[in-house]
Amino acid sequence: MPSLPKRNNLIRPLVRKLHAYVPGEQPKIKGLIKLNTNENPYPPSPRVLRAVKAAADGRLRLYPNPTAQALREKLAKFHRCAPENVIVGNGSDELLALAVRAFVEPRSAVLGAQNESRSVVQYFRPSYSLYPVLADIHGATKNAVPLKPDFSLPSVLELKRGGRWDFRAALSFITTPNAPSGRGYATSELEQLCAAQKGILILDEAYVDFAEEDSLALALKHSHVLASRTFSKAYSLCFQRVGYFVGHAELIAALDKLRDSYNVNGLGQVAALATLDDLPYYRASFRRIIATRERIASELAELGFAVLPSQANFILCRPPRLAASEWLRKLRERKILARWFDYPEVRSYLRVTIGSDAEMNAFLRATKTILRSV
Ligand SMILES: Cc1ncc(COP(=O)(O)O)c(C=O)c1O
Repeated sequence: MPSLPKRNNLIRPLVRKLHAYVPGEQPKIKGLIKLNTNENPYPPSPRVLRAVKAAADGRLRLYPNPTAQALREKLAKFHRCAPENVIVGNGSDELLALAVRAFVEPRSAVLGAQNESRSVVQYFRPSYSLYPVLADIHGATKNAVPLKPDFSLPSVLELKRGGRWDFRAALSFITTPNAPSGRGYATSELEQLCAAQKGILILDEAYVDFAEEDSLALALKHSHVLASRTFSKAYSLCFQRVGYFVGHAELIAALDKLRDSYNVNGLGQVAALATLDDLPYYRASFRRIIATRERIASELAELGFAVLPSQANFILCRPPRLAASEWLRKLRERKILARWFDYPEVRSYLRVTIGSDAEMNAFLRATKTILRSV
C-alpha cells in the first residue's frame, strides 16, 4: 500500500501526540501463570456458562436490547435504586470514557481563567492509568495529585492546605480500593471528599467486592457522585465486557445520550443477568481469593518483601535485594506474568494478581528460587 500523502496532516495533532493506554499483555503461552491483569482465577458459575451456551444460537443474528433493560432493572433491585439510576456499558472503561465526554469541556473550548476547572480531569497518583489517557483523548487538562507516601488518601483539610487539588474540577476519579496500591479507602473519608467537591466525582469501585466496605451509597446520596462497577474482576467476566454506573438519573441520562446504540453485547447481558442469580457462588470465590491474598501477603512479608495492605484481588509488593523490574523478568522466564508500572511512585514494586492457590504456590516457589540466586 502506498504511504499516506502528507500523512501527518490527515491525522489530528492531538491523536498524533497521544500515548495510548497500554493494557497488560495477554500472550498465549502454554502453562503460563497470568498474574498481570487482575483477572479472577476461578471460572464464572456453571449457571452463567449454561445461560451463555443456551443463548448462543440462531438469535445471534438479532440486535441485543439497546439499553440492557433487564440487566438495568435487576441491578437497580440489587442496589435498591431505580433503573434510571443505572447505565450499563461495554466494560466500565466505556462508561469512564463517556463520563469525560459528558462532563468535561475540551481545553480549547474553555474561555477565561475563571472557567479553567471546566476542562479538568482529576485523579490521585498513582491510580488507574487509563484516566490520563481519557483526558488526553478529549483534549482535557489533567490534574494528578499525589497520594500520601504510604498511598493513603489525603484528608480534605490536607488537600485544601496542599493547594493542588481542584475542588471545582469538572470530573474527578477516585479508585477505591485503589489500583495499583490495593489500598481501600473508608466510606467516611470518601464522604468528606464528596461533600467538599463541586464537580462530578466518580468512585471507581472495580475491585470493591474484595474490600471491607463499599461506597455505592454515596452515589445515591450525592447528586454529583457516580459509582462505577464491573463484572470483569470479581464476577469472572472480563471476556464479556460488562460494567455499569450508579448515580443520579440526570447524570445517567446524559451518559445515555452519548453511548453507542447497542453498546452492550447480547451474550454479555445474558451472562451478567445469570451472574446476579448466583451471588452465593461468587461470594464464596471472593472469600477464597481474600484468604489466598492474606496468606501470600504474609509469606512475602516473611521473605523480606514490603507488601501494602490490600483490599483488592492483587497485592503491590517491593522485593528485597533486587529491582522489581528484575524480579518481573525472572518470573517471566519461569512463565509467570506480573505487572510492573514505570512510574516514580511504584517503580520499585510489582503488582501481583491473586491467582488460585496452586498458581500462588508456584509463584512463591519461583520467587524463593529467584531470591536465592541474587
Ligand atoms: C480501577 C479500574 N477501573 C476500571 C477497570 C476496567 O474494567 P472493565 O473491564 O469493566 O472495563 C479496571 C481494569 O483494569 C480497573 O483497574
